[in-house]
Amino acid sequence: MKINQHYLQLEKSYLFTMIGKKVAQFQQQHPEVDIIRLGIGDVTLPLCPAVVEALESASREMGVKETFHGYGPEQGYDFLKEKIAGYYAEKGVTLALDEIFISDGAKSDLGNILDLFDADNTVLIPDPVYPVYVDTNIMAGRKVVFADADASNGFLPLPDENTDADIIYICSPNNPTGAVYDHAGLKAWVDYAKKRDAVILFDAAYESFVADPSLPRSIYEVEGAKEVAIEFCSFSKTAGFTGTRCGYTIVPDALVRGGVALNGLWLRRQTTKFNGVPYIIQKGAAAVFSEEGRRQTLANIDYYRENARILADTLDRLGIRYTGGKNSPYIWMECPNGMKSWEFFDYLLENAGVVGTPGAGFGANGEGYFRLTAFNDHENTEKAAKRIEKLLSK
Ligand code: MLT
Repeated sequence: MKINQHYLQLEKSYLFTMIGKKVAQFQQQHPEVDIIRLGIGDVTLPLCPAVVEALESASREMGVKETFHGYGPEQGYDFLKEKIAGYYAEKGVTLALDEIFISDGAKSDLGNILDLFDADNTVLIPDPVYPVYVDTNIMAGRKVVFADADASNGFLPLPDENTDADIIYICSPNNPTGAVYDHAGLKAWVDYAKKRDAVILFDAAYESFVADPSLPRSIYEVEGAKEVAIEFCSFSKTAGFTGTRCGYTIVPDALVRGGVALNGLWLRRQTTKFNGVPYIIQKGAAAVFSEEGRRQTLANIDYYRENARILADTLDRLGIRYTGGKNSPYIWMECPNGMKSWEFFDYLLENAGVVGTPGAGFGANGEGYFRLTAFNDHENTEKAAKRIEKLLSK
């Protein structure tokens, strides 16, 4: 028996696990400190009433012989896929139902999709970025090259014709920097992928935070993207499903490599390794698209946007540079006084009782940066902002 040696190349623990442990240790040593968590991007508002009602009613259906559901379609129920197709139609994107696959979240699918690709492919990943992209490719022993995202390009790298890549990750609105590509930026990546026969893995988990109507929420808003891109999305940040678990992945029929449709491969993979998302959860997710559900989830997103504004205003007053916070729940700030990311993490935790995420945890270019989330409640966000202001204006 030989273990997968590639696992030994990984950092000892996943970024947010590491932060969780550090914070728990600090709390144990300082039980008197009222810690405010602006670290992991986990929502704090409860599921909206429309979703709760749908979950309740679906649960009751499951307790009655005539309306009970056993195994569902591995790729999801049509009642949810029809809603998703309708949502995309509003963005001017036409999707066939067989192009939509319901999952238990974007993170799982972003990892699982790699089953479709040879270990020999070269992967291009922006730096900094959501650590799951890098870790899942290290696990498979794939070669990773990085696209530098930094202040000089507004944290939105564009393709470099001298870099060869087969698989390209794009996250927009970006985690962690909050930067958002415009149509021209995404088109540059689509053109680059087309030229190389590469595939783009587009993470749209934060699309519902885009407030500026001129910015794209889906890569398929760019012409020709269906021939090069797979899109991942989730109800986690849009509708508070981080603990409920539901997302979706779009594999367009037009995405064909070496004469093979990737849609068929993904279907084969899912029908073999996945038995689908629970009926009850899919009913809850479908309610996100009802008139009430749309209104209620948008109100929650506005609530988080207000938190982002509070944090951004504080940084403005302190003269600290940052990106994000406008079309994203994340604020990506420069660490003050040239501090390193983990140094600032400790400084903020020990002196203000505020937890954020060290930029270095998202890649080498994240060193010297720090991520704050807007996913706490108003009261805590205001309290944290005041503590940060007091500490950093010293
Ligand atoms: C984050 O904080 O980056 C996210 O919550 C992680 C995730 O969505 O898995």
